[in-house]
Amino acid sequence: MASRSAKSGAATSADTSDRISSVLQEHRAFAPPASFRARAHVSSARQLASLRAEAEADPVAFWQERAKELAWFRPWKKVLDWKHPHARWFVGGTTNASVNCLDRHLGGWRRTKAALIWEGEMGEVRTMTYQQLHGQVCKAANALLKLGVQRGDVVAIYMGMVPETVIAMLACARIGATHNVIFGGFSSEAVRERINDSGAVVLITQDAAVRRGSIVELKSAADVAVKKCPSIRHMLVLSRCGVQVTMKRGRDLWWHDVVDGASPVNEPAQLDSEHPLFILYTSGSTGKPKGILHTTGGYLTQVAYTTRMVFDLQEDDVYFCTADVGWITGHSYVVYGPLMNGATVMIYEGVPNYPAPDRMWDIVERHAVSVFYTAPTAIRSFMKAGQAWPERHDLSSLRLLGTVGEPINPEAWMWYHSVIGKGRCPIVDTWWQTETGAIMISPLPGATTTRPGTATVPLPGIVADVVRKDGTSCGPNEGGLLVIKHPWPSMLRTIHGNDERYKAAYWSEFPKGRRHPGWYFTGDGARRDRYGNIWIIGRVDDVVNVSGHRLGTAEIESALVSDPRVAEAAVVARPDDIKGNALVAFVTVKVGVKASGALAESLRQHVGKEIGPIAKPDEIRFTDALPKTRSGKIMRRLLREIVTSGSATGDVTTLEDSGVLERLRSIEEE
Ligand code: PRX
Repeated sequence: MASRSAKSGAATSADTSDRISSVLQEHRAFAPPASFRARAHVSSARQLASLRAEAEADPVAFWQERAKELAWFRPWKKVLDWKHPHARWFVGGTTNASVNCLDRHLGGWRRTKAALIWEGEMGEVRTMTYQQLHGQVCKAANALLKLGVQRGDVVAIYMGMVPETVIAMLACARIGATHNVIFGGFSSEAVRERINDSGAVVLITQDAAVRRGSIVELKSAADVAVKKCPSIRHMLVLSRCGVQVTMKRGRDLWWHDVVDGASPVNEPAQLDSEHPLFILYTSGSTGKPKGILHTTGGYLTQVAYTTRMVFDLQEDDVYFCTADVGWITGHSYVVYGPLMNGATVMIYEGVPNYPAPDRMWDIVERHAVSVFYTAPTAIRSFMKAGQAWPERHDLSSLRLLGTVGEPINPEAWMWYHSVIGKGRCPIVDTWWQTETGAIMISPLPGATTTRPGTATVPLPGIVADVVRKDGTSCGPNEGGLLVIKHPWPSMLRTIHGNDERYKAAYWSEFPKGRRHPGWYFTGDGARRDRYGNIWIIGRVDDVVNVSGHRLGTAEIESALVSDPRVAEAAVVARPDDIKGNALVAFVTVKVGVKASGALAESLRQHVGKEIGPIAKPDEIRFTDALPKTRSGKIMRRLLREIVTSGSATGDVTTLEDSGVLERLRSIEEE
């Protein structure tokens, strides 16, 4: 492994010289290995530069060419209709996501190619060819139609990682229902909120999911959720574990009763390019999650293209993205992207370290996985478990590694590169968001020189920049705000039911005006190095990234204050070796309530119940007051400083009660 500081700016993976021209770690650089380049879709910097030139000359024409690679029933009349901040792509065209993922592959030999290889946590394996998956999707589509689901209706999906989750998503897409996948780790409260906000008419769930060797009951959680969901007419329940559940007559139906017997023939709906494909909820800086709305033609175009280019998909690849379908990565890079490309997709049901820390490597070896895409938090936990675990396995099938979700620390990048990739596999560090729908900034593995810790440069067709608050571009290594300056096909179209919030959250920082035409603000801080590589510094709003998942601190705070014993709460993040960030909650209790370790634990459980275990604060610190401005705003910046460095040294002049800081510094964690 290269040492942290000993590599010079010109070093490559093959370069073992010990020249020291800079101590900056980002100067370690890795050119694509010749063996990889030999058959890559884009195999040289020159080829990439010409793609980039094509895109820069006319980004709209560039995306039009990419859209032609999809199957359309009717071609579009106009490529982009941009009325700031609303985009419509491939206007007038009609298509269908499930046709692009399935039907398109049935004409040739891919018909019998494995589309999904699913491995259950207990070790069972199910393989489904494209033809079989198509049959299942058609059956599920017919079952949904029979339940009265109509084009434009929302269907909520609250499931674990089983093939039926993918089938359910594609079945919705086939009939023009908009899916709303709710992560299986969310609580009843979170499910209820997401169902009610979206107005879902059907909820698809399963009796229980398998996780870390035990059973997680989803149907009973769904029962609690839908008690106050007036829009739900039916629940479709998959029997995964055979556990006893209560089925409400007339409302609840078993998957095997309605799907298995349905016809495997289904005529796909011809949907407008702008037809809503899905709503996916993500955290924002206020308490309520945002229903990010993605539509069909533009989303599919960018997802299909980026999957093929970034992962350099080849016909014989076995592609494994470890994300749960409950997150955007699961939507774009477990389901739609790889299936549109006719890939063989590996899906794993359980946790990565069960029954032992080598479960992933065991899967890679047994299924000959060639492309592996995961999150930095997972890589750090593999590192912590030790390299003896991957060393037990033959990982020679791997040819490409990917990461997503948060900045990867160079140390973890180097470990991934050397211990998992054996120095042979390029690493694609992919920057994007739920809102962007698809990868925006990433290397192309056969063409880009990578550096540990940067997602490198925007993909062709994406116009991103790091700018100052006044909109001028930052100079090299000057920290600024990451913006996207031109609409892109897979961009979110709005926040479901709240277009004002859409405008405020993404378009108000750099509004349309005299200085510029109005840009999308990502919420991320970043800098560009002298090679043009973009380094993400982190979120600049009150959103934190824990284990690669975005959590709104306001959401956790409102969960805390929903406990009757809590008066006020402020949640901030401190760096954590494994999770990226750990959550620290400062809590003031109501008069007469005694702060104690037991109360702290009960509040943690309460947050778990309200939102889900991922949102549980790692630490709870009780205090008698929170630092506030005179206008009453909690100064989270000061709390952040206290949890990271133990003191608050920044500007405290706006603080209402300066004694608070002194008291906060001295409190102990409960
Ligand atoms: O802060 C960035 C970080 O994750 C945020 C998006 O989170 P989410 O919508 O949950 O989507 C995660 C999966 C696409 C971004 O605003 N982020 C994501 N990927 C990277 C990243 N930060 C640095 N490097 C990345 N590769």
